[in-house]
Amino acid sequence: MSIPVDPEWWKSLFDEIYLLTDARSVCNHEITRLEVDLIKELLPINEHHRILDLCGGHGRHSIELFSRGMRGCVLLDYSRRLIRRARTAAQEKNYNLLCVQGDARWTGFSTGSFDYVLLMGNSLGYQVEHESDLQILMEANRVLRPGGAIVVDVVDGAELKRSFRPQAWHAIGEDILVCRERELEESRVKAREIVISRKHGQIRDCTYAIRYYEPGAVSALLCRAGFERVHVLSGLSSQKIKLDLGFMNHRTIATAFKSRN
Ligand SMILES: C[S@@+](CC[C@H](N)C(=O)[O-])C[C@H]1O[C@@H](n2cnc3c(N)ncnc32)[C@H](O)[C@@H]1O
Repeated sequence: MSIPVDPEWWKSLFDEIYLLTDARSVCNHEITRLEVDLIKELLPINEHHRILDLCGGHGRHSIELFSRGMRGCVLLDYSRRLIRRARTAAQEKNYNLLCVQGDARWTGFSTGSFDYVLLMGNSLGYQVEHESDLQILMEANRVLRPGGAIVVDVVDGAELKRSFRPQAWHAIGEDILVCRERELEESRVKAREIVISRKHGQIRDCTYAIRYYEPGAVSALLCRAGFERVHVLSGLSSQKIKLDLGFMNHRTIATAFKSRN
């Protein structure tokens, strides 16, 4: 049986329920702190740099960067609800974080206006058109200054295929149960997700499809988007990184630079 998926699913799924169902990875401060440690190990980001947190969701990386003095951070995401969350979280801390609702394929930012672009937390592969991911990376390239760099963090497609499970479920506290049924296609994972609350009954029944990339394909896509000096870490067992990266073992992290010319 093939799971039917509305191609526009990504325009509405990223809301408060997503923050519950994906809380283990996107609402865990320790994980975010470690991810920002990793970004800073990979790239010499400092407090004078302008950083674009592209598809930055509810702003966890931007807010962590702000807390470390990097106040030139700007967040862009399509989800109005997550943007609202990010704004509120930033205001509570008195951080002057600019939160922009928009599409990463055409951000509207000026050419060359950022030193670094972050594309964290598996934010590629949502639009059904294959070229959309390339468009997002080309847009990132455009808004970077010459010599600026991007960090891309996506699920490791090779590992995803190896460890694929068609069914999964997890409980969140006493109240919530998240059940997922999945199908693996050539380059996408499709899923149906049902979320049940003891108190409120079924609170979500949705489907989605996400394109995945093997490490070599991430590198190839970055080159096609015009980046150079592409460096890909997968499995993250690199000796260079002196962190406990157990939580990110199935991810590919790539860094790449915009040409200086
Ligand atoms: C899995 S979430 C990750 C969010 C954030 N980077 C993090 O690590 O918490 C993926 C995000 O990508 C955003 N997104 C996907 N495609 C987008 C697009 N074309 N333009 C803007 N945002 C997009 C979604 O709205 C969602 O917030």
